[in-house]
Amino acid sequence: MAAASDHASAQAAARAAEPAGPAQHVGGADAGKGAPAPRPGTPRHVAIIMDGNGRWATARHLPRVAGHSRGVDSVRTVIEASIAAGVEYLTLFAFSSENWRRPPDEVSVLMRLFVSSLQREVDTMRRNGVRLRVVGQIEAFEPRLRELIARAQEQSAGNSRLNLTVCASYGGRWDIVQAAQRLVQAQAAGAPLPGEADFERHLSMAFAPDPDLLIRTGGERRISNFLIWQMAYAELYFTDALWPDFGRPEFAAALEWYAQRERRFGRTSEQLQRAVG
Ligand code: FPP
Repeated sequence: MAAASDHASAQAAARAAEPAGPAQHVGGADAGKGAPAPRPGTPRHVAIIMDGNGRWATARHLPRVAGHSRGVDSVRTVIEASIAAGVEYLTLFAFSSENWRRPPDEVSVLMRLFVSSLQREVDTMRRNGVRLRVVGQIEAFEPRLRELIARAQEQSAGNSRLNLTVCASYGGRWDIVQAAQRLVQAQAAGAPLPGEADFERHLSMAFAPDPDLLIRTGGERRISNFLIWQMAYAELYFTDALWPDFGRPEFAAALEWYAQRERRFGRTSEQLQRAVG
């Protein structure tokens, strides 16, 4: 435990000393506003690639979509566990730009699952102080789902206990390209050459600090076009647990692992230790 809190202090020192680094960067006007100070060693922002639903179902001789349904239970568990741990931002990769290539039946079940989850969970989220945002190419969804998303975002806009972002029809490359397009338009209108901060302002997660911890379940070790810009300094945690099997103990293990990491943001270990005193 002592080692974990030493690391946490060093990490805080690294952040404090960082002039414009990713961990300190707060992209948008409302990022972190009204949120409690982060607990030492707890990531402010956890991002998750929820992989392994299909394999979970196949191993039980169930249709793949049964795995997605069980995956919704894990989503609920992780939301509750994040609130309990003091995580401020939780970002879930629910449907990638590339997932549209899946069999049409599976895509349509996933869409129905999004609709039913939104309908069922929105009140609970509101009561628990969860602010929901959906990020991605929302215009690709059917109008009913778009309406539900808009309503859920509106109804939860006053909440700040946990910022839950669902990335849907999302791709990191799309995100970078759409930001670049907006910058090109701004330049055509006479704006000066953009720098990193200008770029970040146009990314779809501009309201949040960069993820501190990325969790990927399901045994694969890749980023799969998730928040590729924002992940520059994230700690990467890979587990073989399939998403429907990912519960409180597994989430706690990931946070425990994170608390042991020394985040240097380009500095040396000695510099960090010196800053802690
Ligand atoms: C990846 O598993 C999972 C998905 C593409 C969908 C994730 C969706 C959910 C957990 C359900 C709903 C989410 C919300 C936020 C309501 P996979 O199918 O690629 O698994 P496999 O690698 O075993 O085939």
